[in-house]
Amino acid sequence: MTKTTRTTLATSIALMAIFPAQAQQAAMDMKPAAMRAAATVRTMTADEKVILTHGIMPLGLSKTMPPIPADAIPGAGYIPGIARLGIPALKETDASLGVTYVMGARKDGATALPSGVAQAASWNPDLLYRGGAMIGSEARAKGFNVLLAGVNLMRDPRNGRTFEYLAEDPLLSGILVGAAIRGVQSNHIISTIKHLALNGQETGRKYANVRISEAAARESDLLAFQIGIEQGQPGSVMCAYNRVLGEQACASDWLLNRVLKQSWGYKGFVMSDWGAVPNIEAALNGLDQQSGEQLDPAVFFGDKLKDKAAGDPRWKARVDDMNRRVLTAIYAAGLDTYPVTPGGKIDFEANAKIAEEVARQGIVLLKNNGVLPLAKTAKSIALIGGYADGGVLSGAGSSQVHGEGGPVVSRPASGKGVWAGFIAQQYHRSSPMEAIHALAGSAKLTFRDGRYISDAVEKARQAEVAIIFATQWATEGLDLPDLSLPDGQDELIAAVAAANPNTIVVLETGGPVKMPWLDKVAGVIEAWYPGARGGPAMASVLFGDTNPSGRLPITFPASEAQLPRPRLDGSDWVEPDFGGNPTSGSDKLDLDYDIEGSDVGYRWFARTGAKPLFPFGYGLSYTAFESGGLKFKGLTASFTVRNVGQREGAEVAQLYLIGRNGKALRRLAGFQRVDLAAGASQTVSVTIDPRILADWKDGGWTLPAGDYRFALGKDAERMSEPVTVRLAGNRWKD
Ligand code: BGC
Repeated sequence: MTKTTRTTLATSIALMAIFPAQAQQAAMDMKPAAMRAAATVRTMTADEKVILTHGIMPLGLSKTMPPIPADAIPGAGYIPGIARLGIPALKETDASLGVTYVMGARKDGATALPSGVAQAASWNPDLLYRGGAMIGSEARAKGFNVLLAGVNLMRDPRNGRTFEYLAEDPLLSGILVGAAIRGVQSNHIISTIKHLALNGQETGRKYANVRISEAAARESDLLAFQIGIEQGQPGSVMCAYNRVLGEQACASDWLLNRVLKQSWGYKGFVMSDWGAVPNIEAALNGLDQQSGEQLDPAVFFGDKLKDKAAGDPRWKARVDDMNRRVLTAIYAAGLDTYPVTPGGKIDFEANAKIAEEVARQGIVLLKNNGVLPLAKTAKSIALIGGYADGGVLSGAGSSQVHGEGGPVVSRPASGKGVWAGFIAQQYHRSSPMEAIHALAGSAKLTFRDGRYISDAVEKARQAEVAIIFATQWATEGLDLPDLSLPDGQDELIAAVAAANPNTIVVLETGGPVKMPWLDKVAGVIEAWYPGARGGPAMASVLFGDTNPSGRLPITFPASEAQLPRPRLDGSDWVEPDFGGNPTSGSDKLDLDYDIEGSDVGYRWFARTGAKPLFPFGYGLSYTAFESGGLKFKGLTASFTVRNVGQREGAEVAQLYLIGRNGKALRRLAGFQRVDLAAGASQTVSVTIDPRILADWKDGGWTLPAGDYRFALGKDAERMSEPVTVRLAGNRWKD
């Protein structure tokens, strides 16, 4: 039976009520910065006006590279300052997992957060804020004032960069990335949000052309960016490599001018991705800054831009606006009043604790037949695979962080070529084996690398418990051909599970994998790429010091056939190619995102009725929770969450829209992570963003009048009894 409550929605939907203090606070801060910026621009010479508009990647990658200025730090980008006007240089480093080591150009270590998807699995904005604040503080200490952090909606789990991104849901992605950006910018440095937009795969990444309707884009990928920008107020937006509706994203008038700047009123600046600028006209289409210019066909935004501005008032106005936008970000973040100086002190011990906390909250318990948590008195444990004696896997590409001392293991993905050293499987120095020894000191631990199945099986047979560390490495620049665990690991797991009934699989993966052995093993933990302190975090969950509370931010499909594009389009690459440059002007790859439209991830599964291996939002605990009493007051839902088990733990309460006017829908409408002692309960209230309930239609949001069905979800599949709310219709612009 369905309960119905009647309520009318106030005619003007107050969006700021949903995104309160921080967004308003940051928005208010932008105004004086924008006014100051305008005043500065009025004093700039024509030459000065093309300084902030372009810059190099300060790396001596080849002899043909431009000279590197003395004050530049090897990193992703450098934009000179203007001393006469007190404008500091922009010193840019990647990325959202920490300060990267840029192909070994800098050897100083940094603290690696767990992968983006691992961070998001915490469903905890406060934790993402803390992680962002931590990596931002390291960037600052190393002399950087711009951190190239990001978000992209996960449209395809085979995307090689899934590990960097947060979630397949726009609300979850937007709220979490907004929190991370606020954390980064709390250090008086600029954060980006990237890569705008629809940057869904790496294959053919510089020429793949996304076809999608405006409605579908607004309700999905663009909504994630919109919420992220409102919540985080990043100083800069990085546009993407791919094409959208036939235009390069970094030269897309629709994305940059009409959506970002006009519709959303964004006041900061758009920087290009590295090597993503096709021509000078990109400026008129909304691009404000050319980054890593030696990777583009030409330096467009220097002298060429000056010439244009000299001869044409339209270009002059654009150049002024470009400068105003860069300066607005500089002033709003306080780059000039809080100058960065390299050589700052970093408390690596304290920072590693934050990375560990993120890992612990992000680990997802996927299966437990009762074997977990393990007893610390276990007598013998066989550890197999994943270099678990030495470290934990990380993802590769521009987001690759090196801890102090570098990786404990580094396996190149290919034997030759420029990218051989860069695209490598690197393991952070955080040994799961040592961490297990620290918790279960009396257990005899044996380690086998897993290359020989018979040998691993024998060790597993002799031990009380067998733990297999299974890895799926992923990198920027390359997609995964399928979702299987590579290197024969499925066979290894099945054989070990047959030899030992207490076999536990710990997954270190960039994203979803298939598990043909699932019903044969006793337990499965998804630890993702768990970062600088991955070893202790895993051990803590295995032995119950941490009660797992992570929930999947992405659906685990049962097979690729369930995806909107069963075959990854263009997956005919031959070797790692970091650039994905078109090899000829005729390279063409159309991606039809209208297949799923805005029904990305779990929404696609709900629409098609396909049964995933594990749904979005899924995750087990060592205790049990019950949620109920769902009530509405306007768009604010309240309900009670109770810990009905024996241990303290955290639940991620999830509220879904499941139907509207008789039509089935599946949209995450709100969530909250709740920490509860055994037996305790808490009333939770979440205010729903009306855009989640609405459709994008004819240039605005439309909320049809009528009955909206909501339910509390254990995950995107298991729903409580629905509650129907009657809402008045509404329509509004962005
Ligand atoms: C990546 C960006 C990164 C930039 C600078 C590009 O290849 O797509 O995410 O920020 O390089 O390193």
